[in-house]
Amino acid sequence: MFDAQHRGKTVFDNEQALCTTNHAEPIGRTEEVETIADTVRPLTLGNEPDDLLIYGPAGTGKTTCIKHVFTNLDTETPVDPVIINCWDYNTRSAILTQLLIELGYPAPRKGKPVDELLGKLREWLDKNDPVAVALDEFDQLEDQNEIVYDLHNLSVNTDQHMAMLLVSNKPPSQIELENRSQSRLGYRTLQFTPYEKEDLEPILEAKADQAFKAHALGDHVVETVAEKAVEELSIGTGDCRHAIEILHRAGREADQAQADRVTAAHVERAINPLRQKAETEAEAG
Ligand SMILES: Nc1ncnc2c1ncn2[C@@H]1O[C@H](COP(=O)(O)OP(=O)(O)OP(=O)(O)O)[C@@H](O)[C@H]1O
Ligand SMILES: [Mg+2]
Repeated sequence: MFDAQHRGKTVFDNEQALCTTNHAEPIGRTEEVETIADTVRPLTLGNEPDDLLIYGPAGTGKTTCIKHVFTNLDTETPVDPVIINCWDYNTRSAILTQLLIELGYPAPRKGKPVDELLGKLREWLDKNDPVAVALDEFDQLEDQNEIVYDLHNLSVNTDQHMAMLLVSNKPPSQIELENRSQSRLGYRTLQFTPYEKEDLEPILEAKADQAFKAHALGDHVVETVAEKAVEELSIGTGDCRHAIEILHRAGREADQAQADRVTAAHVERAINPLRQKAETEAEAG
């Protein structure tokens, strides 16, 4: 999508800034960032941390906030932060193998028995820094009970503790863990609520500043996108990812029309295909 060659003039200066797989600094979400940092902090004092279940709908900044905390850990005692996406690693052995790889353990081969992987992790935690592990998209994981159980046991039975952050779209009431895992978790929860218009505006403005040429964004464009992203089902109500995508597509519409500036009309045009899709889906039931 980003390597399209623009012929003629373009409103973009750095189109890449609107790529939603990049996780920039979170804007707002101060309390959420603080809560995540609080979860990691006990590790630096050699204490056992509380686990944290982070939940909320898509595009509400969960991954952005975790990445921010993990890349800006400013602690006296070093902590190894690891984020594993459970879409990519969705079984017990895949997660444990990936955890070893991320920690820098010398090349564990794929397909090792779980006991062996756990043994290596135990060894690692006895000799190295404490670990903060975030399991992103936790609801996609097949072996949820086993992983919670494994990681918790590792944390309490080794010299260094491990903080576990589970990230999910589903609320805690819909995460079905067996009693033995549940009782080990004792997690705190952190809810990410959908963004309001006022939350989305500064985020979109920051993206727009990076992405568009000076004066290439018409009046009220950011406001219109933020408004639509909160009100229109087709944009996923309060979903920042969709809001950024609409802004991006509006820029593309402006380029296609060879316009000097992105306007509210380009935003409308950018939303139309999504709106039609949402309507068709609603009709289908
Ligand atoms: N507070 C924020 N500040 C800056 N950018 C944000 C913020 N929240 C979300 N974004 C941007 O919106 C997009 C989606 O955010 P993110 O991936 O963090 O959402 P998520 O809650 O993890 O969604 P999902 O449940 O689908 O994984 C990213 O491109 C991210 O950069
Ligand atoms: Mg995410």
